[in-house]
Amino acid sequence: MLESSVSKCEKTPWTRAQRWFCLLMLFLMTGTFMLMFYSPSSFSSQYHSNLTRSSVSGISPDDPSASQYIVAYPNQYQFILDEPNRCQQERPFLVLMIPVAPHNGEARNIIRNTWGKEITVQGQVVSHYFLLGLSKEEGRTEPFKEQVLQESQRHHDILQSNFLDSYHNLTIKTMIMFEWLHSHCPNTSYAMKVDSDMFLNVHKLVGMLLIAPRRLYMTGMVTRGAPVLRDPNSKWFMPVSALSESRYPPYALGLGYVFSMDLPKKILEASAHVKAVYIEDVYVGMCMEYLGIALTDPPHGGLFRATVPYLAGSCYWTSVITTILQNTEELSKVWVTYQTQAQSGC
Ligand SMILES: *[C@@H]1O[C@H](CO)[C@@H](O)[C@H](O)[C@H]1NC(C)=O
Ligand SMILES: *[C@@H]1O[C@H](CO)[C@@H](O)[C@H](O)[C@H]1NC(C)=O
Ligand SMILES: *[C@@H]1O[C@H](CO)[C@@H](O)[C@H](O)[C@H]1NC(C)=O
Repeated sequence: MLESSVSKCEKTPWTRAQRWFCLLMLFLMTGTFMLMFYSPSSFSSQYHSNLTRSSVSGISPDDPSASQYIVAYPNQYQFILDEPNRCQQERPFLVLMIPVAPHNGEARNIIRNTWGKEITVQGQVVSHYFLLGLSKEEGRTEPFKEQVLQESQRHHDILQSNFLDSYHNLTIKTMIMFEWLHSHCPNTSYAMKVDSDMFLNVHKLVGMLLIAPRRLYMTGMVTRGAPVLRDPNSKWFMPVSALSESRYPPYALGLGYVFSMDLPKKILEASAHVKAVYIEDVYVGMCMEYLGIALTDPPHGGLFRATVPYLAGSCYWTSVITTILQNTEELSKVWVTYQTQAQSGC
């Protein structure tokens, strides 16, 4: 969950900044340090319990039929833009997979110029790919399709499949990501799914992975015991008819999770037995539960952060692996700060 919380926030007066300001006031008033250690689970449960339905989710509360909350997976999706040999040739240690809407070329460029530029880290090869579905405009505005094609020919980092790219179809995007990784990266140790509005410290990530388990490993912002939301006004509403359990199994928030490369095949096998719900990270958690594979907590707290703490130290960006940003544009600024911190011996 949380994937489109940014677009959600942009549409309401409750921007993250304002919300953070309110929390800060509360923090000052109560004098507690609790909010400095704002954990992913409290972050997510607040988001999950109090956000109201956004028009982007495309879900009508008037029609709580299960079919709307189940997506068409497994299915025979085809890549229309692909890099069939690149991963096998480069043999990266780590592959970063970034879901992004077809029209968001600007976010792709910012990533290519920030953390996407880190292609050799501690002697390990790292590569990234952007995951796209079909744009709603596809067919109607040909120049746009042309633009993605040119971008693909220039950068060789676009994977586009033939399903409609919508919030509702994110589970399809995640599953075809596992399909692609499984069939294209036989000599890769780890992959990470990471959203385009995230800060990513590739050095810190590779450092963690060099001493992490090579098998049955998935980590990130791990959430346990999250309630299934039954309020039709919730952005993450799930009717009993689609999922009868009252709590989700443990799952890693979709903003950014890392996994060993033995998992894609297993998750795909599980998906044949687990009904595909539209909330992609929850669905991966359901497949992991089916497989009986436990999620791993990061080696220490504060590596995968939901927000920048108010009293962020002068070495903040070198000390974390991920942090959610307001949008991809903020990444350019944060990247300069990160590099300054790294050069100053943080
Ligand atoms: C969320 O909404 C409920 C009522 O719907 C309220 O009791 C609760 O305090 C709210 N939580 C937050 C974090 O705002
Ligand atoms: C994707 O999502 C849209 C609605 O958001 C839906 O109409 C479409 O059928 C979905 N599936 C595929 C495979 O594109
Ligand atoms: C690459 O992967 C293939 C298939 O899994 C395996 O047979 C081969 O030994 C691997 N090579 C290296 C150098 O790891």
